[in-house]
Amino acid sequence: MSNHALSSIAYLLAAIFFILALRGLSSPTSARLGNLFGMIGMTIAIAATLWLGEYLNIILILIPLFLGGSIGIYTAKKVQMTKMPELVALMHSFVGLAAVLIGVAAVFNAYETHSTIQRFELFIGAFIGAITFTASIVAFGKLSGKFGAKAIVFVGQHWINLILAISMVTCGVIYFQSESILAFLLMVALALVLGVTLIVPIGGADMPVVVSMLNSYSGWAAAGIGFTLNNSVLIIAGACVGSSGAILSYIMCKAMNRSIISVMLGGFGSDVTTEISTGGERPVKSGSVEDVAYLMSNADSVIIVPGYGLAVARAQHALQELTAKLIEKGVTVKYAIHPVAGRMPGHMNVLLAEADVPYEQVLEMEDINGEFSQTDVVLVIGANDVVNPAAKTPGSAIYGMPILEAQKAKMIIVNKRSMAPGYAGLDNDLFYLDKTTMLFGDAKKVVEELVKAI
Ligand code: TAP
Repeated sequence: MSNHALSSIAYLLAAIFFILALRGLSSPTSARLGNLFGMIGMTIAIAATLWLGEYLNIILILIPLFLGGSIGIYTAKKVQMTKMPELVALMHSFVGLAAVLIGVAAVFNAYETHSTIQRFELFIGAFIGAITFTASIVAFGKLSGKFGAKAIVFVGQHWINLILAISMVTCGVIYFQSESILAFLLMVALALVLGVTLIVPIGGADMPVVVSMLNSYSGWAAAGIGFTLNNSVLIIAGACVGSSGAILSYIMCKAMNRSIISVMLGGFGSDVTTEISTGGERPVKSGSVEDVAYLMSNADSVIIVPGYGLAVARAQHALQELTAKLIEKGVTVKYAIHPVAGRMPGHMNVLLAEADVPYEQVLEMEDINGEFSQTDVVLVIGANDVVNPAAKTPGSAIYGMPILEAQKAKMIIVNKRSMAPGYAGLDNDLFYLDKTTMLFGDAKKVVEELVKAI
């Protein structure tokens, strides 16, 4: 069998593993297996490329592979969970840059002339890659606070974007017709600028959706380049990333009540107005660890609502201990997960899985919302926006966002450090209800004390 036939079979096998990986990642119970499938698929794809590829300089490939892999392992081990979104944004920028570099290398390859269709694929892959590259760098800067999270809006912004887009397409058409290298390079340069101007008007609140959209773009860029290189595994993997990123963006937009079109077009929609409010003036009822421990251990049912503060405090292990103690005392305990609790998709699921919380205790919003009204105690731990009833008030910055109906429970305990607002910058009426007790303090410390007190 020829090398080409063998590599086609290996790539097909890798593609099957990638599809199985996506299937596995769709549920917390199978996510680990999904990850494993992804790794197997990638190993097969890389091995097939190295062993069966023709005219390869193995040393030139292995050195960057080793260097990049080592930096990747080091960074992944070191990164804090709360810094994950910016790391993901940075990684998307590399995919975009890779697509651009491959495109430029192919255009400069003097031994090959490109057919009309190949030129079209190069054009698509390179411009999506260039936009993804600079847009992801800006997203990384905004998420990490290096560039400031504020939306930068100026007069005529959309016209500038339109002119840039038209000029970019014009250069692409010139390249397409004449194979002019200059037109190709100009197109890439314009796309690099467009990546910046498209993202600067988007505020921090929309950034997670943007990162997910960029994930999708990077997939399509890889698929475009896959056509150019005639590499089936790149086409399939790129299409998987492109479509799953687009679906994820849609789900996130729904969960955060944002319009996907306005996010994609960059700043056309309304950004969450940061009505920063400390809510300091209204009276709240605050309780002690002993009071709360007594309430919880005497309840029949408890629902725990985790949020971003749980991740900040790294309180998941202590929380699992608390749950185990309560269950020992005959209390029914469940976790309620909002789709955008925390700062990245699946953030709470990952934290709870880390602490070995059994999956059957963890319920998604639509499955648990009906249970709050029959529940004795809700413990809201480091969560704020996802339980904010302001989401039901027209005109509120989070109006329309579905929330966990914690306010319907018989008693509500809220653990956070202060009356500071959450991500959306809004005061939360839940904290001022008669049936709500605030339990101030760092989540980990408070939960550890609760474990001792129970
Ligand atoms: P938030 O609304 O951000 O509230 C988190 C709360 O945790 C804060 O009010 C904070 O109050 C408290 N906190 C912080 N550190 C703490 C600690 N060490 N111990 C105890 N409490 C602590 O979080 P949420 O309810 O999870 O909602 C998520 C928000 O982020 C939503 O608005 C969502 O749209 C947005 N968002 C989501 C994503 C994804 S994809 N999940 C990505 C980006 C943004 P104190 O400072 O008073 O302690």
